[in-house]
Amino acid sequence: MKLTSLSIILVMIVGSVSAQRIDISTDKTDLILKVGDNGRLYQTYLGEKLLNRAELDDFSWQVHGGSDGSISARGWEVYAGSGAEDYFEPALAVTHDGGNLTTILKYAGHKQVPTSYGSETEITLRDELFPVEVKLFYEAYDKENIIKTWSVICNNGKKPVDIWRYASAMLYFDREAYFLTEFASDWAKEVQMQTQRLQYGKKIVDTKLGSRAAMHVQPFFELGMNKPASETGGEVLMGTLGWTGNFQFTFEVDNIGNLRVIPSINPYASTWELNAGETFKTPDFIFTLSQNGAGEGSRNFHDWARRYQIKDGMGDRMTLLNNWENTYFDFDQELLAQLMDEARDLGVDMFLLDDGWFGNKYPRKDDRAGLGDWSATKSKLPGGIPALVKAAEEAGVKFGIWIEPEMVNPKSELFEKHPDWAYTLPNRDTYYYRNQLVLDLNRPEVQDHVFNVVDTILANNPDVAYFKWDCNSPITNVFSHYLKEKQQQLYIGHVRGLYKVLERIKEKYPDVPMMLCSGGGARCDYEALKYFTEFWCSDNTDPVERLFIQWGFSQFFPVKAMSAHVTDWNKNAPIKFRTDVASMAKLGFDMGLKNLSAVELRYVQEAIKNWNRLKPVILDGEQYRLVSPYEYNHTATNYVSADKQHAVLFAFDIYPRFAEKVHKVKLQGLDPLRQYRIVEINRMPRINEKGEVVVYSSAEPDKNDTSRWAQDGKVYSGDYLMKVGLDAFTTSQLHSRVVELIAQ
Ligand code: GLA
Repeated sequence: MKLTSLSIILVMIVGSVSAQRIDISTDKTDLILKVGDNGRLYQTYLGEKLLNRAELDDFSWQVHGGSDGSISARGWEVYAGSGAEDYFEPALAVTHDGGNLTTILKYAGHKQVPTSYGSETEITLRDELFPVEVKLFYEAYDKENIIKTWSVICNNGKKPVDIWRYASAMLYFDREAYFLTEFASDWAKEVQMQTQRLQYGKKIVDTKLGSRAAMHVQPFFELGMNKPASETGGEVLMGTLGWTGNFQFTFEVDNIGNLRVIPSINPYASTWELNAGETFKTPDFIFTLSQNGAGEGSRNFHDWARRYQIKDGMGDRMTLLNNWENTYFDFDQELLAQLMDEARDLGVDMFLLDDGWFGNKYPRKDDRAGLGDWSATKSKLPGGIPALVKAAEEAGVKFGIWIEPEMVNPKSELFEKHPDWAYTLPNRDTYYYRNQLVLDLNRPEVQDHVFNVVDTILANNPDVAYFKWDCNSPITNVFSHYLKEKQQQLYIGHVRGLYKVLERIKEKYPDVPMMLCSGGGARCDYEALKYFTEFWCSDNTDPVERLFIQWGFSQFFPVKAMSAHVTDWNKNAPIKFRTDVASMAKLGFDMGLKNLSAVELRYVQEAIKNWNRLKPVILDGEQYRLVSPYEYNHTATNYVSADKQHAVLFAFDIYPRFAEKVHKVKLQGLDPLRQYRIVEINRMPRINEKGEVVVYSSAEPDKNDTSRWAQDGKVYSGDYLMKVGLDAFTTSQLHSRVVELIAQ
């Protein structure tokens, strides 16, 4: 074997046993980094927690390659620069002052401190030839098995430099095979889970939509190691980028079958000029590495998100009645007052007024006008928001309101006054998406305008209890009149401008709950969710579709953050089926009560009461996805409270085949040694001989109740329920069953 000078250097690097080791660990995962003798920082291990990490000091982590079996001249550099011996995708690329394109970072020091949740690590890397420094940050959440990592790139020189690759992180894997699950989307078709095997080369999952950024694909992925990710077994990396704009995940399998994963802001059209003395902070990449399938990975995310990330993650959530699907733009003050009464009759906490309440010179009677003019339409709502707040108060419900503050219709007073506040091309025809334009959040006056939309409503109406914040257009006409010759900063500057506004709102109104919406679910990432208590999963509220959509989003988000409304979208599905589906997440309604029979109304009222009672289990408990709608004509999920005293099972028969074999549903997460009483809840009431609506009681079962489920009222051990299971499924179509389990 002929050793090249480069490989001799590498052997020297990898031969060192005394080199500095940096351990970033949770209770279940180790990410081990090591400084080579060449001073560069390498990943030596990312996997299940080791009993003795010191054994890794002898670990030969160099990359073997070449048909002659020689050692190739590269290792797994933690934040690979460009222009050196690594011929694959870099984490960082800089055009230095003078045009040099090479960057080689060397370890310059690190700090690690314990925190209340685990540890925080900061590592400094520097180029010896150019004044560029990178700091890598890692927050390791021990119990939740979550690592949050980001990078800060600093220009310590005296001249500006251009950065055109700026990854949040870079992770390496050496496994037999890699299976990527992505979450492809479109309007009303969010989070379609699709899995493929990664082969040599790059698979890039990215978006260039700017504002409604995740319309076509979501900023999260799963990576099954050796085999496709499954719910309960196998190693799976689950990662997500906290960035409400263009993102990019690069998965690159190299010549020897190793994989690198590079999460980043999408560098498309976004070379960033970093001025002397300035820093560039990347978004957070948040990941968990589960050895027990995606189910455990999801629970890691849910626990972490509620505790540390989502606005008011540990707080309560309100049920609501929305008017969008019921009225669209067609309402007035009187009708809204009636709907508020319906909200009260239903038993929800709040009435949420949707689109169509604003604009006077150009009233918002459809989606062609009014966006930008945030005062109530006098002809429709003579008393304005104060009268609506008052009507809600009289009805005994809270009042929430829809806004879409980042947008403008050309038919608006705002656009007439400030045409240069919107992105438009100076020299080409304007392209409209839903008849609207995106306001330029790079511009400080626009940031003030967007902030003022919320601030003015709340200053004048402190009792407004909730906002639904929408964003229906991607960035079109990609030209900022504010940035002038710095157009390449548009996409990143836009998102940073949005965060500045959201930060101001959160600071001034820390307790106001807000729903994040983007033409359905085209915006739901963990940076935005710092400012929002929940998000709208999809405009598609067909309960069958929702079973898939909720299955998909729950991979990364706790159901507490997932707004799910009962509507009339699929009238073939009984109201019970529709409500049971929505009861698996943050329950709301978007329908008129006039279409409900007395029995149906009573059913819904009971279901809301049950949901309120079970909120601690559903919203704050542990979620176990049991049977996937992707694999069967049925689906089931159960939730278990932290103390394992209480659980709820949701089981749905979608479109079973004729005489299909029906499997038992095996629950998860229960205490095997405890006994649980099984109670079917959310049953359709019936009308008795006297014509009265009667709700079935499990505590005092009706002897003539022939439709009672055979297992209702029985007591089983957790062991039995998890190993044998319940006969919760049927062969009926669009049938649902909700079962409460109470430890005895
Ligand atoms: C978007 C939202 C809907 C509704 C409409 C109003 O499509 O996703 O829920 O608010 O806008 O125009």
